[in-house]
Amino acid sequence: MNLKSTRWNGVIDHYARFLPVTDATPVVSLSEGNTPLIRADNFVTAIGGNFELWLKYEGLNPTCSFKDRGMTLAVSKAKERGAKVVICASTGNTSASAAAYAARAGMKCVVLIPEGKIALGKLAQALMYGATTVSVRGNFDAALRIVRELGETGLVEVVNSINPVRIEGQKTAAFEICDQLGRAPDFHFLPVGNAGNITAYWRGFREYLAAGLSDRLPRLFGFQAAGAAPLVDGAPVLHPHTVASAINIGCPASWDGAIAARDESNGCIDKVTDEEILTAYRLIARTDGIFVEPACAAPLAGLTRCVREGRIPAGSVITATMTGHGLKDPDNAIKTAGYEPFVVDATREAVMQVIGL
Ligand code: F0G
Repeated sequence: MNLKSTRWNGVIDHYARFLPVTDATPVVSLSEGNTPLIRADNFVTAIGGNFELWLKYEGLNPTCSFKDRGMTLAVSKAKERGAKVVICASTGNTSASAAAYAARAGMKCVVLIPEGKIALGKLAQALMYGATTVSVRGNFDAALRIVRELGETGLVEVVNSINPVRIEGQKTAAFEICDQLGRAPDFHFLPVGNAGNITAYWRGFREYLAAGLSDRLPRLFGFQAAGAAPLVDGAPVLHPHTVASAINIGCPASWDGAIAARDESNGCIDKVTDEEILTAYRLIARTDGIFVEPACAAPLAGLTRCVREGRIPAGSVITATMTGHGLKDPDNAIKTAGYEPFVVDATREAVMQVIGL
């Protein structure tokens, strides 16, 4: 017998030739990547569209968000340089990911989070992985400013996406989409916060085309929340606010990268209201069984609006990144579901009465 292992060893192992690594790089991996691309026909029908929609379900990464793709590279490179401490500011997912990979690398991790403004699951992750968790009385932008200043001391390794290797790792999601579809999509939709990911996707799609591994470039459609839409409004937002806490950012670090991705791809960056976000958030769970965190619903709300405005040609192939898992944010899920559990006596009759039999 000639059995071949199909084990997946993470994005550095799989896409090494596109990444800034050498044989000397100590790879710190949790087998991130290789997430499913799930077709969501019921959602398309529900919003009145006539196209293929494929969701890149990044919530199935090891810490349940897309951040693991960049973090495996950032922590591996930090280890290669002999760093002892990694630090980041975060709306929750970067901190969860940094904490996990630092734990695995035997490094100290410090995370700065905006007090009271991150989802419960993400806080649980940072604490559980053992990161020194600092709740800052201020927003994400203030926390990132402090992290930048601490980075300049040279005492800590910053693993926010201002560290360029984060973007390098995250571009592997675009590679996987092309590999899974057997082509590049016509459109790619995604949420935009600090704008690292839209920058990374554009780089990934271009590099795959240049390598002859895909046949076209998609138009990138990014969506911000209306209360935190600096790229759409054209100026930083001093007091950003949205139910989608992951993208509650007023001054994105990768501002220029996002604008370049938009313009070079003939795409757009637009904003959607919290109400539109919550509607799409619940709808995708109900129509297709895909539970995401609220930020992921921003591009779905944007797509809904694009359909209404007749902007999507029939037969298009569309992909969208579902950046984080729904279980990250149980508070919003329970508030948005619209139901509460039925409480009954422990009898068959009582249960039958509830279900109407
Ligand atoms: N979706 C989720 C679930 C996120 O956590 C983030 C960013 C984004 C979308 C936006 O991606 O910043 O590359 O434009 N979260 C960062 C964090 C800011 O700290 O976890 P982006």
